Amino acid sequence: MNFKNAKTIKVAQLRTLLENKEPVHILDVRPKEEREEWNIPESEFVDIYSKLKAGEKKLFSNMNFHQNVPVVTLCAAGKTSMIAMEQLRENGIEAYSLEGGMREWTTAWNSAKTKDSLETTVMQIRRTGKGCLSYLLENNSEAIVIDASLDTEVYTSIAKKNNWKIKYVVDTHIHADHFSRGKQLADATNAIFLLPNQDLVNYKFQPIIDGTLLNFGKATLKAIHTPGHTHESYSYLVNNESLFSGDTLFTGGVGRPDLKATLDLAQQKAGLLYQSLQKLLAFENSLTVYPGHISNPVAFDEKLICNTLGDIKKNVKILELNENDFINNLLKKIPETPPNYETIVKLNLKGRTDGANLIDLEAGANRCAIS
Ligand SMILES: [Fe+2]
Repeated sequence: MNFKNAKTIKVAQLRTLLENKEPVHILDVRPKEEREEWNIPESEFVDIYSKLKAGEKKLFSNMNFHQNVPVVTLCAAGKTSMIAMEQLRENGIEAYSLEGGMREWTTAWNSAKTKDSLETTVMQIRRTGKGCLSYLLENNSEAIVIDASLDTEVYTSIAKKNNWKIKYVVDTHIHADHFSRGKQLADATNAIFLLPNQDLVNYKFQPIIDGTLLNFGKATLKAIHTPGHTHESYSYLVNNESLFSGDTLFTGGVGRPDLKATLDLAQQKAGLLYQSLQKLLAFENSLTVYPGHISNPVAFDEKLICNTLGDIKKNVKILELNENDFINNLLKKIPETPPNYETIVKLNLKGRTDGANLIDLEAGANRCAIS
């Protein structure tokens, strides 16, 4: 790897190295608490943050490095990692600092894919740091995108490379953890943009109602209203084989019902979520469930994040509870409120960013699930 003698590497370059399985040694030099909050799964933690800040030298002299494997140093915003990079270079090691650090890494992505029995491509496109999962589904060269959370170019370049036409763009609900790129993607591709029926957003969309059918190639997506996480939440059933469950049902938990809710309202939404989950649990155990999020950063391992409904029923104990116990249990376990969610919802209601810095707004781990 030689980036024209640069001392830094950009997120897109590191992403490509990991995707192409090229050798790279990533050293995370952030404080331990920050590392525990979120990280790059392929990275190694070295507990030297305070020593680096204090100007201590020779911090890497006891570490072993493979020859010809470049080292990428990583911190929160790309400053302390520069100090680490310089020290490594003083030791003769080819080192680069990740520009913008974890703050910029929030836009990095990877993918995994499979085909269903009707030859429908199910491509899961993951924001690796944040754990947001979007989907590009294709049959006979016609495609649907669900919950676009990355730059439109990510989806359009994959579609272009495969000669697919993006026919529909849909969201499962109004998101609170990321700015939806759905409207932008539909505008860029002339696709039809659909949202769950509601009167909250300030722009035009085609409304989805319970039972809406969308055909792409020989495949069919059917919309199922599953309120609870939000009132307008939908899940999408494709070919009766795959369920795209948004933030209603995850592989290891269920959606949180509380954002922007008083205790009364959270209780009511938890009740709605219970009823919605009963609808989903009634499907065949063999159904594959593809969630809208995962709480942990996603490795570049090309393994789909999904599970069968049967296995989810076995693993997620809260699904076994009766309605009252489910509600009480859910309200007891609500995680910390995600940062900036009110601002993000406002932007999603407008359908535009108004110059907001999305990297700052969207930074950090995802906190949409309760397990
Ligand atoms: Fe959500």
